[in-house]
Amino acid sequence: MAERILVTSALPYANGPLHIGHAVEYIQTDIYVRFLRSSGKDVVYFCADDTHGTPIELNAAKQGLKPEDFIARFQDEHQKDFQDLDVRFDYFHSTNSPENRQYAELIYGRLKEKGDIERKDVEQAYCETDRRFLPDRFIKGTCPNCKSVDQYGDVCEKCGKAYSPTDLIDPRCSLCSTPPVRKSSEHLFFKLSRHADFLQALLRKPGFIHPGLATQLQGFFEKGLADWDISRDGPYFGFAIPGETDKYFYVWLDAPIGYIATTEKWAKETGKAKSALDYWAKDSGARIVHFIGKDIVYFHALFWPAVLEVAGLHIPSEIKVHGHLTVNGEKMSKTRGTMVPVRDYLNQLDPSYLRYFYAANLGAGVEDLDLNLKDFRLRVNGELVNNVGNLANRALSLLAGPLGGKLAPGRSEGPGRALVESVLARIPEVREAFEKLEYRNAIRVITDIASAANAFVQTAAPWALVKKDAEAARADLSDAADVVYLLGALLAPVTPRLSEKLFAQLGAEPLTFQALEGAKYPLLDRSRPIGTPEPLLPRLEEDRVNAIIVTPEGTVAAAPAPEAKKAEGKEKKAEKKPAEPAPVTQASSGAGATEAAGSGEIEYADFAKVVLKSGRVLAAEKVAKADKLLKLTVDVGEASGPRTIVSGIAEAFAPESLVGRNVVVVANLKPRSLKGIESKGMLLTAGPGGKDLSLLDPGNVPPGSDVK
Ligand code: MSP
Ligand code: ZN
Repeated sequence: MAERILVTSALPYANGPLHIGHAVEYIQTDIYVRFLRSSGKDVVYFCADDTHGTPIELNAAKQGLKPEDFIARFQDEHQKDFQDLDVRFDYFHSTNSPENRQYAELIYGRLKEKGDIERKDVEQAYCETDRRFLPDRFIKGTCPNCKSVDQYGDVCEKCGKAYSPTDLIDPRCSLCSTPPVRKSSEHLFFKLSRHADFLQALLRKPGFIHPGLATQLQGFFEKGLADWDISRDGPYFGFAIPGETDKYFYVWLDAPIGYIATTEKWAKETGKAKSALDYWAKDSGARIVHFIGKDIVYFHALFWPAVLEVAGLHIPSEIKVHGHLTVNGEKMSKTRGTMVPVRDYLNQLDPSYLRYFYAANLGAGVEDLDLNLKDFRLRVNGELVNNVGNLANRALSLLAGPLGGKLAPGRSEGPGRALVESVLARIPEVREAFEKLEYRNAIRVITDIASAANAFVQTAAPWALVKKDAEAARADLSDAADVVYLLGALLAPVTPRLSEKLFAQLGAEPLTFQALEGAKYPLLDRSRPIGTPEPLLPRLEEDRVNAIIVTPEGTVAAAPAPEAKKAEGKEKKAEKKPAEPAPVTQASSGAGATEAAGSGEIEYADFAKVVLKSGRVLAAEKVAKADKLLKLTVDVGEASGPRTIVSGIAEAFAPESLVGRNVVVVANLKPRSLKGIESKGMLLTAGPGGKDLSLLDPGNVPPGSDVK
């Protein structure tokens, strides 16, 4: 029986939209799977949404949603994104599924049976107001190193220093600003330390993981492997641990089990396997390949294989690790707008461009990959549009037009035949490059082939020849069409929709890597009429490419060259006025409308008419067609529920930065309709306005407190 291969990509968190960094992984994996399938391999490709954990639970609560409804929304969005990126899973499931619960419980049961679960007390930060333990990311305070305020409990974003939350100066709960206390609770640990020998042997196994990474992981063994805390106390969104009260599996325990759960679901739905065990049983003989990013190697190369081994299941055969995407040479950033959501990209451009560019730059190593927008445009236009697209267009339009769509039979000799034979000889290079994940080498050979064929057409000049000797022109063009056919097959893993177009225009069956095995001249069935030629793909236009980058303020950011960026920074500094007028407290509501303060003094009784309350922002979003407005949902401690307040602060604040913040609300203002939204109240701000505005913070008081 042929080898069965199971391929996975890491499961994206159901906690936000996919961005073009995620796309690197899914496109890289999808290309690999398409290549294997085209080569006739028995391969399945699975993925799922990763749905559990504290951030998802809290984000759902912020939006007033049940976690189940919150994750459903992203599950839906993710699936649409994958569809439109031409990423095709055999099944896309969810870790919050009955199959995943079943396997998580089964695996946990086995770990326990083997004596691999241990109980230990753990002291952790705890918020008495929110009645929950606080993960590092949910504690904020002043960095012990550089003294920057408002830094997370694990690492300072200003100076980059890593520390533990107990090192923070003035630590506070990021949800309610109360200083946390220390509290002890019992946790369950997986005894990873017992499996050091097994893991070290696995890491040395040729082909399991990139040798550089194996060496890097060696460091963990030298320090001594720590046991792994697999439980979390409630409230937590996850699976309850059988036999325990208010304890849940840590998200990273059940996340990779999602690979198995998805296999199970697929088996049940399609009947193509009896159960997940057809692949995941220890002796299944299947090859299991995980694609992941460099940030999650630890989980996949240490915890996961050890858990599978103890549970008596199949160990992954290979872990393929890629680097991270940078944009214009820098880490992706929300404020710079370079953390481009996949949907924003797709709203502007065909996925083929991005798939091609990633392939053209991907090797088997873990180096980061840069999406320089200028490079992107030049490379795609030069190679895909001009080289490949032009060849197809030149070859097919003459054949379809003056030559009536008929091909010539193969020739016994001559430059056309020699061309086809020479490019056929390069197939093994392309095959090897795809197999080894050296996609950039595959693309190099593919563009070489297109260039050679373009040079042949240039010399043969069929546009002139067609008038003198139509049959000679037909023969040359038919040989060029053979090369187009080959390019369709070689590019199919990378740009499947372009290959489909090429095959249709040639009037030919899709050509696979398997069919290319031992392929001989001529490639096309020359007795069949060709289809209708059409331009393959439009050129990438500069403004279209730049339009994928949108900053939080909603402006389209042109992508400056690095030198330009530096100059811009200097300019800004030089521009900055030496002394700004002292900010005046102002009330802001509506589209930046500021109520005239009026002149003269008022009585205390007049001031007392204004009811000021503290509130907490639960949700914030932009108001369509109003650059300055945000629609906020604010808890003012009222039994009737939170209020909707429309505020003219959109230039100063990204909506997501406001969620969870405490604010001062004018609570007895007459409701007012702004852009068709009824606004009930007003937020107090200070500063000159526009981008320079700060929000008045009532401090650490519960929503609904009086401000007097
Ligand atoms: N949920 C975990 C994975 C669980 S697998 C059992 C997770 N999710 S993620 O959404 O943060 O990332 C999903 C994958 O996308 C990871 O492999 C991650 O490395 C990859 N990428 C996320 N950002 C990336 C870039 N900027 N560049 C390349 N890959 C990136 O981790
Ligand atoms: Zn709290």
